[in-house]
Amino acid sequence: VSGIGSLRDEFGDFDGRVWLNAAHQGPLPLRAADAARRAIADKLAPHRIADEDFRHVPEELRSALARTIGALPDDVILGNSTTYGLHLLAHGLPLRDGDEVLLVDGDFPATVVPWLRLRERGVRVRLLEPRARPLPPEQLEAELGPRTRVFCSSWVFSLSGETVDLAEFGRVCREREVVFVVNGSQGVGARPLDVAAAPADALVSCGFKWLCGPYATGFCWIRPDVRDTLEYRQDYWLAQLTGDDLSSEAAYALRDDLGARRFDVFGTANFLDFAPWRAAVELLLEVGLERIAAHDDALVQLLVDGLAAIPRLRLASPADQPARSALVLASHVDEDRTDGLHAALAAGGVDVALRGGLLRLSPHLYNTSEDVERALALLARHA
Ligand SMILES: Cc1ncc(COP(=O)(O)O)c(C=O)c1O
Repeated sequence: VSGIGSLRDEFGDFDGRVWLNAAHQGPLPLRAADAARRAIADKLAPHRIADEDFRHVPEELRSALARTIGALPDDVILGNSTTYGLHLLAHGLPLRDGDEVLLVDGDFPATVVPWLRLRERGVRVRLLEPRARPLPPEQLEAELGPRTRVFCSSWVFSLSGETVDLAEFGRVCREREVVFVVNGSQGVGARPLDVAAAPADALVSCGFKWLCGPYATGFCWIRPDVRDTLEYRQDYWLAQLTGDDLSSEAAYALRDDLGARRFDVFGTANFLDFAPWRAAVELLLEVGLERIAAHDDALVQLLVDGLAAIPRLRLASPADQPARSALVLASHVDEDRTDGLHAALAAGGVDVALRGGLLRLSPHLYNTSEDVERALALLARHA
């Protein structure tokens, strides 16, 4: 499919199985595994770790991540999860008693949970019940009240595969001066995004799905003017350090000129996680996110067509662009039999997710049309 089948060589053999589950975990590319091995070798003989590495490792990762979303590196915050960035926003944005945060019912818990404790401060946290799926921008517009300060939604919904209209949501929010926070975890790395053009105020993402990084990775981009409003106190000695002199008075001074770095996760030079993650992100950039998106979508088309040809299966995610994503959900018409299909796929060497009673197949750059055909053949046989 679309000429990047050779990228299979950049990955392991998945024990001879088919991994159609990037929406759960992206596999580490081989070059990222090499980077992880180098990081372990360095820690086995720590003389190999130079002082400058504590700066280079995070900065090189920051630059690579910035390129995946069209951001400036200086506006990227390094984290250890999606939640890291959402927590920073939920507890840093200047929200007061009576203010409102709007979320979408049916969104993945990671997008919802970080906001809930704001209720203890008198902030109204309300879940919108979409009257159509995905949530129509007109409904969002009608629901915004005078005290609505934040709207937070996933870009791609993990449990339904729907892609929301970022441009329209962003336009609605901007007109009403509502901060628009996007959880891009199921889209960043699978398709290009340009935050300079997209009207989002903040974007959070994990690193271990479509970006193919190790677990416990994530990042966050916040528009500088919104970042400046954050009332979040954290100060990290290593981020503040200007020179090598730990005994100088400057080492004790609080700096206010750190920009996004001020909010990085502590232990920012996380060699074992960040060195392989950077290698993975650089591979995706080398291939090109446009090409990856085209490849993934071609596989999605094969899945959508193939599922439609199996009479006893029902597609549960959007069939067409722009609402569809690289997450394809389906069930047996006899719902009790969906679990059995999941087991039959696993027994036949094809790994997909089972979420909310639905099969979820999520192909990515290392998958081929043969992988999809193997999955479809098993489904046809067992449906
Ligand atoms: C939409 C979405 N956001 C976030 C996560 C993960 O959140 P975190 O990185 O905080 O563990 C997932 C899946 O695990 C997800 O599907």
